[in-house]
Amino acid sequence: MKAICVTPSRELEVRDIPTPDQPAPGHVVIDMDASAINHGDKTFLRVPTAAGSVPVSGRHDVWGASGSGRIVALGAGVPEEYAGKQVAIYRALARSPENVGLWCEKAHMRHTSCLILPDHVRARDYCGSLVNVMTAYAFLEEIVEAGHKGVIVTAGNSATGHALATLARKRNVPAIFLVRTEAARDALRASGVEHVIVTREGFTDTLAALSTELGTTAVFDGVGGDLLGKIAPSLPMNSTIYFYGFLGGSAPASIQSALFMMKNLIMRRFSNYDSRTVKDQDKLVAALKTLAGVIDDPMFMTRIGKEFSYDQIDLAMAYESLDGSKAVLVA
Ligand SMILES: NC(=O)c1ccc[n+]([C@@H]2O[C@H](COP(=O)([O-])OP(=O)(O)OC[C@H]3O[C@@H](n4cnc5c(N)ncnc54)[C@H](OP(=O)(O)O)[C@@H]3O)[C@@H](O)[C@H]2O)c1
Repeated sequence: MKAICVTPSRELEVRDIPTPDQPAPGHVVIDMDASAINHGDKTFLRVPTAAGSVPVSGRHDVWGASGSGRIVALGAGVPEEYAGKQVAIYRALARSPENVGLWCEKAHMRHTSCLILPDHVRARDYCGSLVNVMTAYAFLEEIVEAGHKGVIVTAGNSATGHALATLARKRNVPAIFLVRTEAARDALRASGVEHVIVTREGFTDTLAALSTELGTTAVFDGVGGDLLGKIAPSLPMNSTIYFYGFLGGSAPASIQSALFMMKNLIMRRFSNYDSRTVKDQDKLVAALKTLAGVIDDPMFMTRIGKEFSYDQIDLAMAYESLDGSKAVLVA
Protein backbone atom coordinates (compact mmCIF):
# COMPACT_ATOMS: atom_id res chain seq x y z
CA MET A 1 0.00 0.00 0.00
CA LYS A 2 0.98 3.63 -0.34
CA ALA A 3 2.21 5.49 2.72
CA ILE A 4 3.79 8.85 3.49
CA CYS A 5 6.91 8.14 5.53
CA VAL A 6 9.48 10.27 7.33
CA THR A 7 13.11 9.90 6.22
CA PRO A 8 16.16 10.10 8.55
CA SER A 9 16.72 13.67 7.32
CA ARG A 10 13.15 14.59 8.45
CA GLU A 11 11.60 14.81 5.01
CA LEU A 12 8.42 13.16 3.82
CA GLU A 13 8.28 10.69 0.93
CA VAL A 14 5.70 8.34 -0.55
CA ARG A 15 6.71 4.68 -0.22
CA ASP A 16 5.18 1.25 -0.81
CA ILE A 17 4.95 -0.64 2.47
CA PRO A 18 3.31 -3.94 3.49
CA THR A 19 -0.45 -3.71 4.13
CA PRO A 20 -1.41 -4.67 7.70
CA ASP A 21 -4.13 -7.36 7.67
CA GLN A 22 -4.11 -9.36 10.93
CA PRO A 23 -4.38 -6.89 13.83
CA ALA A 24 -2.28 -7.49 16.95
CA PRO A 25 -4.15 -7.93 20.26
CA GLY A 26 -5.84 -4.68 21.30
CA HIS A 27 -5.32 -3.21 17.81
CA VAL A 28 -7.58 -2.60 14.82
CA VAL A 29 -7.02 -2.27 11.07
CA ILE A 30 -8.62 0.83 9.60
CA ASP A 31 -9.41 1.54 5.97
CA MET A 32 -8.27 5.17 5.94
CA ASP A 33 -10.43 7.81 4.33
CA ALA A 34 -8.56 11.07 5.03
CA SER A 35 -6.14 12.89 7.30
CA ALA A 36 -6.11 16.61 7.99
CA ILE A 37 -2.66 18.14 8.35
CA ASN A 38 -2.57 19.74 11.79
CA HIS A 39 0.06 22.09 13.24
CA GLY A 40 1.67 19.20 15.16
CA ASP A 41 2.34 17.29 11.91
CA LYS A 42 4.58 20.17 10.83
CA THR A 43 6.06 21.05 14.22
CA PHE A 44 7.17 17.51 15.17
CA LEU A 45 8.69 16.98 11.73
CA ARG A 46 11.01 19.95 12.29
CA VAL A 47 11.46 19.57 16.06
CA PRO A 48 10.88 15.98 17.25
CA THR A 49 11.29 17.04 20.91
CA ALA A 50 8.74 19.90 20.65
CA ALA A 51 6.61 18.34 23.42
CA GLY A 52 9.52 17.01 25.49
CA SER A 53 10.01 13.35 24.59
CA VAL A 54 10.37 12.00 21.04
CA PRO A 55 7.08 10.35 19.95
CA VAL A 56 7.11 6.64 19.03
CA SER A 57 6.64 6.52 15.26
CA GLY A 58 5.65 2.84 14.95
CA ARG A 59 6.43 0.60 12.00
CA HIS A 60 7.72 1.77 8.64
CA ASP A 61 8.08 5.40 9.84
CA VAL A 62 4.63 6.37 8.58
CA TRP A 63 3.87 10.01 9.45
CA GLY A 64 0.63 11.70 10.58
CA ALA A 65 -1.13 12.28 13.90
CA SER A 66 -4.82 12.21 13.03
CA GLY A 67 -7.27 10.88 10.49
CA SER A 68 -10.54 9.09 9.95
CA GLY A 69 -11.70 5.88 8.30
CA ARG A 70 -13.58 2.64 8.83
CA ILE A 71 -12.50 -0.32 10.97
CA VAL A 72 -12.13 -3.49 8.91
CA ALA A 73 -10.53 -5.93 11.39
CA LEU A 74 -10.40 -6.32 15.18
CA GLY A 75 -7.53 -7.82 17.17
CA ALA A 76 -8.07 -10.04 20.21
CA GLY A 77 -9.58 -8.18 23.15
CA VAL A 78 -11.01 -5.26 21.17
CA PRO A 79 -14.65 -4.59 22.18
CA GLU A 80 -17.09 -5.85 19.53
CA GLU A 81 -18.73 -2.37 19.33
CA TYR A 82 -15.76 -1.23 17.16
CA ALA A 83 -16.53 -3.75 14.38
CA GLY A 84 -17.22 -2.06 11.04
CA LYS A 85 -17.51 1.42 12.59
CA GLN A 86 -16.26 4.65 11.12
CA VAL A 87 -13.81 6.29 13.50
CA ALA A 88 -11.85 9.48 14.14
CA ILE A 89 -8.26 8.64 15.06
CA TYR A 90 -5.53 10.40 17.04
CA ARG A 91 -2.41 8.28 17.08
CA ALA A 92 -0.75 9.67 20.23
CA LEU A 93 -3.63 8.57 22.46
CA ALA A 94 -2.24 5.05 22.58
CA ARG A 95 1.35 4.69 21.48
CA SER A 96 2.42 1.27 20.30
CA PRO A 97 5.50 -0.08 18.51
CA GLU A 98 3.01 -2.05 16.38
CA ASN A 99 1.34 1.10 15.01
CA VAL A 100 1.25 1.60 11.26
CA GLY A 101 -0.10 4.96 10.24
CA LEU A 102 -1.77 7.25 9.93
CA TRP A 103 -0.87 8.65 6.51
CA CYS A 104 -1.34 5.36 4.65
CA GLU A 105 -4.12 3.44 2.95
CA LYS A 106 -4.69 0.99 5.84
CA ALA A 107 -3.67 1.92 9.36
CA HIS A 108 -2.98 -0.37 12.33
CA MET A 109 -3.64 1.28 15.70
CA ARG A 110 -4.64 0.44 19.24
CA HIS A 111 -8.42 0.73 19.49
CA THR A 112 -7.98 3.37 22.22
CA SER A 113 -6.63 5.75 19.56
CA CYS A 114 -10.06 5.64 17.91
CA LEU A 115 -13.32 7.41 18.67
CA ILE A 116 -16.40 5.71 17.24
CA LEU A 117 -18.29 8.13 14.97
CA PRO A 118 -22.06 7.90 14.62
CA ASP A 119 -23.33 6.53 11.30
CA HIS A 120 -25.05 9.81 10.36
CA VAL A 121 -21.84 11.88 10.10
CA ARG A 122 -19.28 11.89 7.29
CA ALA A 123 -15.97 10.48 8.61
CA ARG A 124 -13.99 12.93 6.47
CA ASP A 125 -15.45 15.85 8.44
CA TYR A 126 -13.62 14.54 11.52
CA CYS A 127 -10.27 13.70 9.88
CA GLY A 128 -8.37 16.24 11.98
CA SER A 129 -10.71 16.59 14.94
CA LEU A 130 -9.79 14.10 17.64
CA VAL A 131 -6.47 15.70 18.62
CA ASN A 132 -8.19 19.04 19.19
CA VAL A 133 -11.33 17.69 20.84
CA MET A 134 -9.31 15.51 23.22
CA THR A 135 -7.00 18.41 24.07
CA ALA A 136 -9.93 20.61 25.06
CA TYR A 137 -11.56 17.77 27.02
CA ALA A 138 -8.37 16.84 28.89
CA PHE A 139 -7.68 20.50 29.63
CA LEU A 140 -11.12 21.04 31.19
CA GLU A 141 -10.66 17.90 33.30
CA GLU A 142 -7.31 19.18 34.52
CA ILE A 143 -8.36 22.72 35.40
CA VAL A 144 -11.57 21.68 37.14
CA GLU A 145 -9.55 19.25 39.24
CA ALA A 146 -7.08 22.07 40.00
CA GLY A 147 -9.97 24.16 41.37
CA HIS A 148 -10.44 26.65 38.52
CA LYS A 149 -14.01 27.81 37.95
CA GLY A 150 -13.64 29.33 34.48
CA VAL A 151 -11.35 29.72 31.49
CA ILE A 152 -10.01 32.35 29.07
CA VAL A 153 -9.30 31.00 25.58
CA THR A 154 -6.72 33.07 23.67
CA ALA A 155 -7.11 31.31 20.28
CA GLY A 156 -10.90 31.63 20.36
CA ASN A 157 -11.42 30.95 16.66
CA SER A 158 -9.13 27.91 16.40
CA ALA A 159 -10.23 24.27 16.26
CA THR A 160 -9.10 23.78 19.87
CA GLY A 161 -10.98 26.96 20.83
CA HIS A 162 -14.17 25.75 19.16
CA ALA A 163 -13.91 22.36 20.86
CA LEU A 164 -13.39 24.01 24.23
CA ALA A 165 -16.41 26.27 23.67
CA THR A 166 -18.73 23.31 23.22
CA LEU A 167 -17.29 21.20 26.02
CA ALA A 168 -17.21 24.10 28.52
CA ARG A 169 -20.85 24.89 27.78
CA LYS A 170 -21.84 21.26 28.30
CA ARG A 171 -20.28 21.23 31.76
CA ASN A 172 -21.31 24.79 32.70
CA VAL A 173 -17.77 26.13 32.95
CA PRO A 174 -17.78 29.89 32.15
CA ALA A 175 -15.45 30.72 29.27
CA ILE A 176 -14.23 33.91 27.58
CA PHE A 177 -13.00 33.70 23.97
CA LEU A 178 -10.47 36.15 22.54
CA VAL A 179 -10.54 36.57 18.75
CA ARG A 180 -8.80 38.86 16.28
CA THR A 181 -11.72 39.97 14.13
CA GLU A 182 -15.35 41.03 14.32
CA ALA A 183 -16.15 38.33 11.75
CA ALA A 184 -14.79 35.62 14.09
CA ARG A 185 -16.72 37.15 17.00
CA ASP A 186 -19.97 37.15 15.03
CA ALA A 187 -19.46 33.58 13.82
CA LEU A 188 -18.80 32.33 17.36
CA ARG A 189 -21.80 34.18 18.72
CA ALA A 190 -23.96 32.71 15.96
CA SER A 191 -22.80 29.28 17.16
CA GLY A 192 -24.09 30.08 20.64
CA VAL A 193 -20.84 31.19 22.29
CA GLU A 194 -21.71 33.90 24.83
CA HIS A 195 -18.53 35.72 25.86
CA VAL A 196 -16.40 36.72 22.87
CA ILE A 197 -13.99 39.68 22.92
CA VAL A 198 -12.15 41.08 19.91
CA THR A 199 -8.52 41.87 20.85
CA ARG A 200 -8.61 45.44 19.62
CA GLU A 201 -7.50 48.64 21.37
CA GLY A 202 -9.02 48.85 24.86
CA PHE A 203 -10.19 45.21 25.04
CA THR A 204 -8.29 44.57 28.27
CA ASP A 205 -10.75 46.66 30.32
CA THR A 206 -13.65 44.52 29.09
CA LEU A 207 -11.58 41.40 29.80
CA ALA A 208 -10.65 42.51 33.32
CA ALA A 209 -14.29 43.18 34.27
CA LEU A 210 -15.66 39.98 32.73
CA SER A 211 -12.90 37.70 34.01
CA THR A 212 -13.38 38.98 37.56
CA GLU A 213 -17.15 38.54 37.30
CA LEU A 214 -16.87 34.98 35.89
CA GLY A 215 -13.80 33.88 37.88
CA THR A 216 -11.92 32.72 34.79
CA THR A 217 -8.58 31.92 36.44
CA ALA A 218 -7.35 29.33 33.90
CA VAL A 219 -5.92 30.61 30.59
CA PHE A 220 -5.97 28.13 27.69
CA ASP A 221 -3.26 29.79 25.64
CA GLY A 222 -2.86 28.73 22.04
CA VAL A 223 -1.28 31.99 20.88
CA GLY A 224 1.55 33.23 23.15
CA GLY A 225 3.62 36.25 22.12
CA ASP A 226 2.61 39.79 22.96
CA LEU A 227 -1.04 38.88 23.58
CA LEU A 228 0.02 37.42 26.93
CA GLY A 229 1.75 40.62 27.98
CA LYS A 230 -1.46 42.48 27.17
CA ILE A 231 -3.86 40.20 29.06
CA ALA A 232 -1.73 39.40 32.14
CA PRO A 233 -2.68 42.61 34.03
CA SER A 234 -6.39 41.82 33.39
CA LEU A 235 -6.33 38.31 34.87
CA PRO A 236 -8.04 37.57 38.18
CA MET A 237 -6.05 36.71 41.32
CA ASN A 238 -4.63 33.13 41.38
CA SER A 239 -4.65 32.72 37.60
CA THR A 240 -2.64 30.06 35.78
CA ILE A 241 -1.60 30.47 32.14
CA TYR A 242 -1.35 27.08 30.42
CA PHE A 243 0.69 27.19 27.19
CA TYR A 244 -0.58 24.57 24.77
CA GLY A 245 -0.13 26.17 21.31
CA PHE A 246 1.96 28.74 19.53
CA LEU A 247 -0.10 30.32 16.77
CA GLY A 248 1.60 33.64 17.51
CA GLY A 249 4.93 32.18 16.37
CA SER A 250 8.21 32.90 18.09
CA ALA A 251 7.37 36.39 19.39
CA PRO A 252 8.40 36.50 23.06
CA ALA A 253 5.84 37.02 25.84
CA SER A 254 6.79 39.85 28.15
CA ILE A 255 5.10 40.08 31.57
CA GLN A 256 6.01 42.44 34.41
CA SER A 257 7.49 40.35 37.21
CA ALA A 258 5.46 42.29 39.82
CA LEU A 259 2.30 40.67 38.41
CA PHE A 260 3.48 37.26 39.61
CA MET A 261 3.45 38.59 43.19
CA MET A 262 0.33 40.72 42.78
CA LYS A 263 -1.82 37.96 41.23
CA ASN A 264 -0.05 34.81 42.41
CA LEU A 265 0.31 34.14 38.70
CA ILE A 266 1.51 30.73 37.50
CA MET A 267 2.69 29.80 33.99
CA ARG A 268 3.03 26.21 32.81
CA ARG A 269 2.58 23.98 29.80
CA PHE A 270 -0.35 21.80 28.84
CA SER A 271 0.25 18.76 26.66
CA ASN A 272 -2.70 16.50 25.98
CA TYR A 273 -0.68 13.29 26.03
CA ASP A 274 0.84 14.11 29.39
CA SER A 275 -2.62 14.77 30.83
CA ARG A 276 -4.22 12.32 33.26
CA THR A 277 -7.10 11.87 30.82
CA VAL A 278 -4.80 10.39 28.19
CA LYS A 279 -2.24 8.65 30.44
CA ASP A 280 -4.76 6.78 32.60
CA GLN A 281 -6.30 4.01 30.47
CA ASP A 282 -9.65 4.01 32.31
CA LYS A 283 -9.96 7.78 32.01
CA LEU A 284 -9.08 7.61 28.31
CA VAL A 285 -11.74 4.98 27.62
CA ALA A 286 -14.28 7.07 29.57
CA ALA A 287 -13.29 10.22 27.64
CA LEU A 288 -13.66 8.45 24.27
CA LYS A 289 -17.13 7.22 25.29
CA THR A 290 -18.24 10.66 26.49
CA LEU A 291 -16.93 12.37 23.36
CA ALA A 292 -18.50 9.77 21.05
CA GLY A 293 -21.87 10.87 22.48
CA VAL A 294 -21.37 14.52 21.51
CA ILE A 295 -18.99 14.42 18.53
CA ASP A 296 -21.71 15.21 15.99
CA ASP A 297 -21.77 18.84 17.23
CA PRO A 298 -20.71 20.96 14.21
CA MET A 299 -18.15 22.82 16.38
CA PHE A 300 -16.04 19.63 16.45
CA MET A 301 -15.86 19.26 12.67
CA THR A 302 -12.55 19.70 10.86
CA ARG A 303 -12.57 22.80 8.66
CA ILE A 304 -11.47 21.34 5.32
CA GLY A 305 -9.61 23.75 3.04
CA LYS A 306 -8.36 21.62 0.15
CA GLU A 307 -7.97 17.91 -0.53
CA PHE A 308 -4.66 16.44 -1.78
CA SER A 309 -3.54 13.01 -2.95
CA TYR A 310 -0.49 11.36 -1.29
CA ASP A 311 1.66 12.26 -4.30
CA GLN A 312 0.93 15.93 -3.60
CA ILE A 313 2.37 15.79 -0.08
CA ASP A 314 4.75 18.74 -0.60
CA LEU A 315 1.90 20.95 -1.84
CA ALA A 316 -0.29 19.78 1.03
CA MET A 317 2.35 20.59 3.66
CA ALA A 318 2.81 24.06 2.17
CA TYR A 319 -0.93 24.78 2.00
CA GLU A 320 -2.11 27.76 4.03
CA SER A 321 -5.62 29.21 4.17
CA LEU A 322 -6.84 32.58 5.29
CA ASP A 323 -9.68 31.19 7.36
CA GLY A 324 -7.87 28.46 9.33
CA SER A 325 -9.19 25.58 7.20
CA LYS A 326 -6.77 22.71 6.73
CA ALA A 327 -5.12 20.65 4.02
CA VAL A 328 -6.52 17.12 3.90
CA LEU A 329 -4.73 14.06 2.53
CA VAL A 330 -7.15 11.65 0.91
CA ALA A 331 -6.17 7.99 0.95
N1 LIG B 1 -0.53 20.96 23.50
C1 LIG B 1 -1.42 20.19 22.90
O1 LIG B 1 -1.76 19.11 23.41
C2 LIG B 1 -2.00 20.63 21.58
C3 LIG B 1 -3.03 19.90 20.96
C4 LIG B 1 -3.61 20.40 19.80
C5 LIG B 1 -3.13 21.56 19.22
N2 LIG B 1 -2.08 22.20 19.81
C6 LIG B 1 -1.58 23.47 19.25
O2 LIG B 1 -2.62 24.42 19.41
C7 LIG B 1 -2.49 25.44 18.46
C8 LIG B 1 -3.84 25.65 17.80
O3 LIG B 1 -4.15 24.54 16.99
P1 LIG B 1 -5.56 24.46 16.24
O4 LIG B 1 -5.53 23.28 15.34
O5 LIG B 1 -6.63 24.61 17.24
O6 LIG B 1 -5.47 25.79 15.37
P2 LIG B 1 -6.27 26.17 14.04
O7 LIG B 1 -7.62 25.55 14.04
O8 LIG B 1 -5.40 25.93 12.87
O9 LIG B 1 -6.42 27.74 14.27
C9 LIG B 1 -6.52 28.57 13.19
C10 LIG B 1 -7.27 29.83 13.62
O10 LIG B 1 -6.67 30.39 14.77
C11 LIG B 1 -6.73 31.80 14.67
N3 LIG B 1 -5.37 32.33 14.83
C12 LIG B 1 -4.31 32.14 14.06
N4 LIG B 1 -3.25 32.85 14.51
C13 LIG B 1 -3.69 33.49 15.57
C14 LIG B 1 -3.08 34.39 16.44
N5 LIG B 1 -1.80 34.75 16.32
N6 LIG B 1 -3.83 34.89 17.43
C15 LIG B 1 -5.11 34.53 17.58
N7 LIG B 1 -5.75 33.66 16.77
C16 LIG B 1 -5.03 33.16 15.78
C17 LIG B 1 -7.21 32.17 13.29
O11 LIG B 1 -8.52 32.67 13.36
P3 LIG B 1 -8.76 34.22 12.98
O12 LIG B 1 -8.10 34.46 11.67
O13 LIG B 1 -10.23 34.36 12.97
O14 LIG B 1 -8.10 35.01 14.08
C18 LIG B 1 -7.19 30.87 12.53
O15 LIG B 1 -8.28 30.73 11.66
C19 LIG B 1 -1.37 25.01 17.51
O16 LIG B 1 -0.18 25.68 17.90
C20 LIG B 1 -1.25 23.52 17.78
O17 LIG B 1 0.03 23.02 17.51
C21 LIG B 1 -1.52 21.77 20.96
